[in-house]
Amino acid sequence: MTNAPDDAALRAGLDDLLRHGNPPIVIVTARDDRGRRAGCLVGFTSQCAIGPPSYAVWLSVRNHTYEVALRSTHLAVHVLAREQRALAQLFGSVTGHDRDKFAECEWDDGPSGLPILRGAAGWFAGPARRIPSSGDHELFVVSPLIAHGRLDHQPLSFQDVKDLDAGNPA
Ligand SMILES: Cc1cc2nc3c(=O)[nH]c(=O)nc-3n(C[C@H](O)[C@H](O)[C@H](O)COP(=O)(O)O)c2cc1C
Repeated sequence: MTNAPDDAALRAGLDDLLRHGNPPIVIVTARDDRGRRAGCLVGFTSQCAIGPPSYAVWLSVRNHTYEVALRSTHLAVHVLAREQRALAQLFGSVTGHDRDKFAECEWDDGPSGLPILRGAAGWFAGPARRIPSSGDHELFVVSPLIAHGRLDHQPLSFQDVKDLDAGNPA
């Protein structure tokens, strides 16, 4: 391998290689020990263990959701159908630093006080562990203890929402 390309060239090269990928897109919600609620759209996710079941989400350190997740013991992960893009837009293009998203959608108090979004096809939730890292996103591993709902339709995926402007710059 030759010298590493400069940052801009490397980013452009990666964008070119990865732009056709279509991972599922989810909404992560949190509630902290002060009663603050937060949630944002997340494309950096992966199932990461079968037993015990584990699911990884990466949260931007600039997000209101990250601040709240730091003081939350549990996280909820909402799975969306394609028809539920409006909910994705609310949670992906608005930041809780400026607006209360929960005043603009329907939700219920769920396990551990987590806000559960009625408009999502399904959700799962459980204790979450932060794995510190040095990048602009940090890893939280959720160990689901409860799962609800069904995804009978096409899931909402990255290609369906890549045109949205993020509420916070990454
Ligand atoms: C297509 C798309 C994918 C996104 N993926 C992530 C992600 O993986 N992790 C993350 O923390 N934010 C991601 N965001 C950005 C947040 O959802 C967005 O900045 C949101 O407004 C933050 O809200 P908050 O400040 O209330 O947490 C994504 C946004 C879009 C539009």
